[in-house]
Amino acid sequence: MAFDIDMIKKVYARYGERITAARKVVNRPLTLTEKILYAHLWDGNATQAYERGVSYVDFAPDRVAMQDATAQMALLQFMQAGRPKVAVPSTVHCDHLIRAKEGAEKDLAVATTESREVFDFLASVSNKYGIGFWKPGAGIIHQVVLENYAFPGGMMIGTDSHTVNAGGLGMLAIGVGGADACDVMAGLPWELKFPKLIGVKLTGKLNGWTAPKDVILKVAGILTVKGGTGCVVEYFGEGAKSMSCTGKGTICNMGAEIGATTSTFGYDESMERYLRATNRADVADAANAVKEHLTADPEVYADPERYFDQVIEINLSELEPHLNGPFTPDLATPVSKMKEEAAKNGWPLKVEWGLIGSCTNSSYEDLSRAASVAKQAVDKGLVRKAEFGINPGSEQVRYTAARDGLLNTFTDLDATIFTNACGPCIGMWARVGAEKAEKNTIVHSFNRNFAKRADGNPNTFAFVASPEMVAAIAISGDLSFNPLTDTLINDKGEAVKLDPPVGDELPKKGFDVEDPGYQAPAADGSDVVVAVSPTSDRLQLLDPFPAWEGTDLKGLKLLIKAKGKCTTDHISMAGPWLKYRGHLDNISNNLLIGAVNFFNDKTDSVKNQLTGEYGPVPATQRAYKAAGIGSIVVGDENYGEGSSREHAAMEPRHLGVRAVLVKSFARIHETNLKKQGMLALTFADKEDYNKILEDDTFDIVGLTEFAPGKPLTLVIRHADGTVDEIAVNHSYNEQQIGWFKAGGALNIIRQGLAS
Ligand code: F3S
Repeated sequence: MAFDIDMIKKVYARYGERITAARKVVNRPLTLTEKILYAHLWDGNATQAYERGVSYVDFAPDRVAMQDATAQMALLQFMQAGRPKVAVPSTVHCDHLIRAKEGAEKDLAVATTESREVFDFLASVSNKYGIGFWKPGAGIIHQVVLENYAFPGGMMIGTDSHTVNAGGLGMLAIGVGGADACDVMAGLPWELKFPKLIGVKLTGKLNGWTAPKDVILKVAGILTVKGGTGCVVEYFGEGAKSMSCTGKGTICNMGAEIGATTSTFGYDESMERYLRATNRADVADAANAVKEHLTADPEVYADPERYFDQVIEINLSELEPHLNGPFTPDLATPVSKMKEEAAKNGWPLKVEWGLIGSCTNSSYEDLSRAASVAKQAVDKGLVRKAEFGINPGSEQVRYTAARDGLLNTFTDLDATIFTNACGPCIGMWARVGAEKAEKNTIVHSFNRNFAKRADGNPNTFAFVASPEMVAAIAISGDLSFNPLTDTLINDKGEAVKLDPPVGDELPKKGFDVEDPGYQAPAADGSDVVVAVSPTSDRLQLLDPFPAWEGTDLKGLKLLIKAKGKCTTDHISMAGPWLKYRGHLDNISNNLLIGAVNFFNDKTDSVKNQLTGEYGPVPATQRAYKAAGIGSIVVGDENYGEGSSREHAAMEPRHLGVRAVLVKSFARIHETNLKKQGMLALTFADKEDYNKILEDDTFDIVGLTEFAPGKPLTLVIRHADGTVDEIAVNHSYNEQQIGWFKAGGALNIIRQGLAS
């Protein structure tokens, strides 16, 4: 499992020269983000300055990480690329396919039986192609990456939107679709639009009940779910230095919730402490030797307005604990305002569950601070009012927390310790009674709270908070409980107050673990056979998508005009569908079933223009495909926000959708659509969304002259015989137009054209 210190030293060895070259072309001091980007240019030293938000640039990431749900499709694609081994260090982490039900031991045993075929597939592909494999139960990808692989100044991509968590250790770590991972593992450059930069200056110091989570909950409230789109968020200031490395990870983690490309912090002593505590003293030493390159030039933080596109300042000393939600992570409510807001909005006050865990908040520090609250409840004679569940972030965290008595503290309060895995965060939660769809409230320390996300119940009001606040609220059972001011009644009828949480940034006795759950790949995997049964309903080898036919697209039907929020969860639901992530045809049966049809306000009910009848979205699209008719999907703002899952792009492609036309896209989803050979288009005039009617037929005109920056035309033929013609924009560059023409980026790799 050893991280690659030689690789890290090589990266650092070129830093000085690369940054000097970058400073010369940019002709001003550099932010940390720019240093990392310019140090990872595919073509070597910078010869030109790139324009933020405009230039497409090729990079050479240092690592790739994949989780089990997305790795299946990424690796099925990699198998088609014809390479004997991955070109950069890569790992697979089995964390998504384990349902939380009775507790770690039983749940893990069930999952390894239920998903044996998938885990065996991932293990054998990893073994064959030189990929490190983290077994089920080893931990959540981003915690394991932070503990083992992240390094200051590094660049990493991962097939999960919360890959950004590694920014807590000073990386630029970016979530991508599997096709991007496939490119990098095949030794090809990775393309990204040079990001804009948001600087967040943190002054003061966290205190009392406030935690790093509250910083990002506050930032999400300021920037909203799309405020970070196309941007890297760089945190700095005294407040940044005063926080732990894992706390910084929490902040970067939820940068995904504001649509940011990634977030990062400059190298500091908290990172050094974390590296040394996680057995990476040599990485800390190597980083110390180049530390002036691992943070911005001093002029930048002295005058941030001059160097960032946007600057936000937050005083940590004045920051209140927040609860964000329900149904969106940017609806930020300070704890002192919750009573009022809940009453105003009709949010149920009775809290049924408190859940601590997810890649966002499952570090040793998180567990120790939450445990300090749980311990007080036991000591002060309080009875926990809501159910309480914990998912530790990794086996190393779990083992150490068990050794130090933290887990016993939770179980003393009758909490259930679930597996070191995603569990309820990804909808893998066998919550008793969820099928009744009753209105209820839960509080968790995760990052996402879209409708149905945790338990499939659209009436679950989920609020996101820090682990210590989740513990306090689970104990009180009351969403409006403010531990800073309120008291609770104990078993003797006395009013007691919870003291502010305390915890350890790192375990006093060091981390410990018996079996971290890592499996190294074979030195030579050429003889390893990867078997995929043709009758499997979990795995299916991929067939190449057809190339573009060379003409404009005519006679397309409207599959759905999605109304309002349409995240990747709406496009390709997780939860019960996770099991089909390696089988494109089967998972396509969830295509857009969560999206709201603009014309009837229903989910999974669209008009089949061939029969005039309403039916499920996947069945309707299959009917168009059987009739040889293409279709388009229309959407609203920030379409495809949320996860990196490329199934949300591959499913419509597989079923014959030709274009997705929206007011605006979330970055990863837009790239995923392009990679799979789809047309990702935006309304030139957002008002034209209103021109799309239920019985419309469309032509997409201008494809024979498809060129960067040149709009296409959408001809809209309405059922009453009238016709509208509107301009639709796209952001394809030459290379991406090549993907469209070839029928997908993988077709180009396969043909060897890009090797
Ligand atoms: Fe897993 Fe939830 Fe993170 S699904 S990777 S714990 S966002």
